[in-house]
Amino acid sequence: MLDTLNAIERNGLDALKDVQDEAALEAWRVSHLGRSSGLMQVFSKFGQLTPAEKPLVGQRANEVKKALEAAFADKAGQIRQAALQRSLEQEQLDVTLPGRRLPLGRLHPDTQIQRELFRVFGEMGFQVYRSREVESDEYNFQLLNFPIGHPARDMQDTYFIESEGRGDNPIVLRTHTSPGQIHAMREYSSRNPQDPPPVRLVLPGMCYRYEQTDARHETQFDQLEGLAVGPGITFSDLKGTLTDMARRLFGQQARTRFRASFFPFTEPSAEFDIECFLCGGKGCAVCGGGWLEIGGSGMVHPVVLQNGGYDPARYTGFAFGFGIQRIAMLKYGIKDIRYFWQNDLRFLEQF
Ligand code: FA5
Repeated sequence: MLDTLNAIERNGLDALKDVQDEAALEAWRVSHLGRSSGLMQVFSKFGQLTPAEKPLVGQRANEVKKALEAAFADKAGQIRQAALQRSLEQEQLDVTLPGRRLPLGRLHPDTQIQRELFRVFGEMGFQVYRSREVESDEYNFQLLNFPIGHPARDMQDTYFIESEGRGDNPIVLRTHTSPGQIHAMREYSSRNPQDPPPVRLVLPGMCYRYEQTDARHETQFDQLEGLAVGPGITFSDLKGTLTDMARRLFGQQARTRFRASFFPFTEPSAEFDIECFLCGGKGCAVCGGGWLEIGGSGMVHPVVLQNGGYDPARYTGFAFGFGIQRIAMLKYGIKDIRYFWQNDLRFLEQF
């Protein structure tokens, strides 16, 4: 039996020399120290030994077990160390390589120009007032002096939302930011109906029109509305404010012009143009005739003042509404408005 134990020890240690990885080590453990290994069979036959053999064989069997277990632990350590060494060599970190740049987002050019406009108008004392994009026909048209069936509605064909039982007051996606004028005036005048406070606001936001798209027209675009109401406000205040805005935004050389126009909610009304920087006023695909129409403007119509809770005998006011993308087109030299919502990174990354 002692000879058997010596052979078990020798064979086990010899076999361990060839073991190089964890899988082979586990196989070695099963065959040399596992339940059906030669060593464990010696232990299981222990009861058949004579009393004289028992202490000798028992002692030797334990020695062999300890020797094999120690060799096993030693080998496991060597294999772990070798694996660590290999991974250090193979996965070396080259700290001299340039790092990978994280793609950083930035503000959309439309948002950039909106913020710039808020700054410019903020310096002139205008506050930002946000108003809803889904409107009723009443606010989008009727309270702004576009009665039902009025031909001026044709200029702003829009998307109607199917809504039952609303008769002549269906739900629409707003075609312009002007309905915000009524919301704002009603809110301000309700604070003190007998003596409503003056108003000086800009109202930004998305507008929707059923439009034939081209380089200057989208079906979805941002406007910035302006509204100033108070005692004694005149058309020269409007002209001064918009001319100053153009100069603050584009520099002192910016040329502007006002053209007589018609809007049901202003009287008198004017279109406001800025000379096109892209062609230097010669005329190009973006501007048409050398000037880019930026927006409409005028003195708030007495009916609109009244609808907002302001007595037209005591108060006057001016209003304007710009296309924000049109301003961005001029400022950044963008040739086609349709780039704005295409989400093409080649366009967006330029700003
Ligand atoms: C209006 O929307 C009036 N509410 C503006 C106004 C406000 C007049 C207050 C008087 C007082 P208009 O339809 O012209 O007017 O549009 C104003 C501006 O919005 C245009 O000059 C243009 O810059 C922009 N705009 C209009 N339609 C589009 C479109 N389809 N795509 C891009 N920009 C547009």
